[in-house]
Amino acid sequence: MKPERPDPSNVASRDSTRPLRSYGRIRSRAIKPKQAALMETLLPALRLRPEAGPIDPLALMPEARELWLEIGFGGGEHMAEQAARRPELLILGAEPFENGVASALRHIEARGLKNIRLHPGDGRELMAALTDGCCERIFILFPDPWPKERHHKRRLVNPRTARDLARLLKPGGRLRFATDWADYAERALEALLAEPRLAWTAKAADDWRVPPADHVATRYQEKALGDCAPVFLDFVRV
Ligand SMILES: C[S@@+](CC[C@H](N)C(=O)[O-])C[C@H]1O[C@@H](n2cnc3c(N)ncnc32)[C@H](O)[C@@H]1O
Repeated sequence: MKPERPDPSNVASRDSTRPLRSYGRIRSRAIKPKQAALMETLLPALRLRPEAGPIDPLALMPEARELWLEIGFGGGEHMAEQAARRPELLILGAEPFENGVASALRHIEARGLKNIRLHPGDGRELMAALTDGCCERIFILFPDPWPKERHHKRRLVNPRTARDLARLLKPGGRLRFATDWADYAERALEALLAEPRLAWTAKAADDWRVPPADHVATRYQEKALGDCAPVFLDFVRV
């Protein structure tokens, strides 16, 4: 048997306080010139700095009526559409994939959105910088499925994240998790159900198998690469 090649992101696993890397590549093809320019001009104005300490959402947009969070926004289509529908709220998005951040910047600029701030990095760093009960809504849509058993530990939604999500949501605040991988749906449901501060809102099967009325289809969802139809798990913070 060949020894496993060292994986630099596994180094983190030796530090029990730091979660394993839950994302794949952070760069793919060259970023288009227009988007590359936005990384230089627009990103600095929207960039969150969780490494610098606690983030006060009121300081970011004092008139914001609610704070929403999207972790792993991919190309930013969902985040941009939700922000355009609700200009009175502030959406924080986290995404380590540079091409995704560049694409989101293009949406933000093209639609003239003023209510999005970005962390171009791990969403868990951003979560750690946010105060208890600050979020009305949190979205984790079609996260990396890590379908191989030996990679399940890299999945973003697990008992530890479930605790952090519950901490960030206001009582009555809502979490939406979606996936089209059956095993991930089951394991995520298990982890979220085990968190006593979260209650699953589904009463009938259509509540999780029919896209919720306010859902915006994402690019990854449309690729339909999973092994089941999309599953939408909505939870409310009790
Ligand atoms: C399969 S893609 C889906 C993207 C988008 N939500 C969609 O549905 O089109 C999952 C995304 O989650 C991002 N991701 C994974 N782990 C993350 C983390 N810890 N924090 C923020 N984003 C993460 C990945 O970089 C990737 O872009």
